[in-house]
Amino acid sequence: MTVIPVGQSWHALEALARQLKEKVEEVFCPHCMKYVKPDIRLIPTFLDSILIEKLCPHCRTVLSTEYTQVRLPDRKPHLIKGGTYIAFEGIDGSGKTYYSKWLVEELKRRDYDVIYVKEPWVDAIKEFLYKHRIDPDAEVYIFAADRIILQTEEILPALEQNKIVVSDRSIFSSIAYQSARGVSEAFIWGVNRSIKVPEFVIILDVPVDVALKRIEGIGRAMTRFEDPEFLERVRRKFLEIAERYANISRFVVVDNSRPEEVVKKEILDHVLRYLEEKEKMAK
Ligand code: TYD
Repeated sequence: MTVIPVGQSWHALEALARQLKEKVEEVFCPHCMKYVKPDIRLIPTFLDSILIEKLCPHCRTVLSTEYTQVRLPDRKPHLIKGGTYIAFEGIDGSGKTYYSKWLVEELKRRDYDVIYVKEPWVDAIKEFLYKHRIDPDAEVYIFAADRIILQTEEILPALEQNKIVVSDRSIFSSIAYQSARGVSEAFIWGVNRSIKVPEFVIILDVPVDVALKRIEGIGRAMTRFEDPEFLERVRRKFLEIAERYANISRFVVVDNSRPEEVVKKEILDHVLRYLEEKEKMAK
């Protein structure tokens, strides 16, 4: 498989089109009623392939289509060195916001340089999502756009300054929620191809009825994401993610139906151990 170098995608696509054009053989065009040397049009897809269309240079009829394994490069912003990117995940009402803010304070008390961020990040995007019921594919795009803004403006600069970023949600929320709405995970990864993935993920796991009671308890109105059957699917997705993507990030699943002090101790132990291990490795 040919991988087109990072940052040169469009140049590389043009070069590939030229290359194919040189090699292309004449094809019969049923509209022009003659053999023509077709033009080449390349259409990158999200799923690791490029659609090659051969067009009649005179009437633009599509004379043939085929897919090639040539693909755009993976973008690997996660290779940026420095800092530590930690994310909390879980269904609505699982306690992410409470425990992530608490963790930030605990780390600050231990003199770590740490920032807190939350997805969705941009207020206008959040309002839009609550107001409009949109197609799940479109949700993928919108959450990814929000994430790109958050990463560019906050997360990547903080990591470059060697800070710890504690994030309330991450790309794994898109994988869980949007795949629970029927979108393929490959598509979600494709749209999020420029996203840095958190290296350490704490999944707070609670039964859906407990989570919904918590949301009621804080007096917040339910959003359209908070339907019990849907949340049950999302909860299962998160547990699957912890297994399936263990080759990408380090996951811990913390049972948050236990008393607060027990949960806090478990989270802090996990995080401090991870940070210590990382510091040791860096020496
Ligand atoms: P949430 O963290 O619950 O925000 P708040 O605490 O302000 O209510 O996130 C909002 C909703 O968006 C939540 O139901 C999960 C959903 N969501 C997705 O479906 N995909 C995503 O990628 C993200 C980040 C969130």
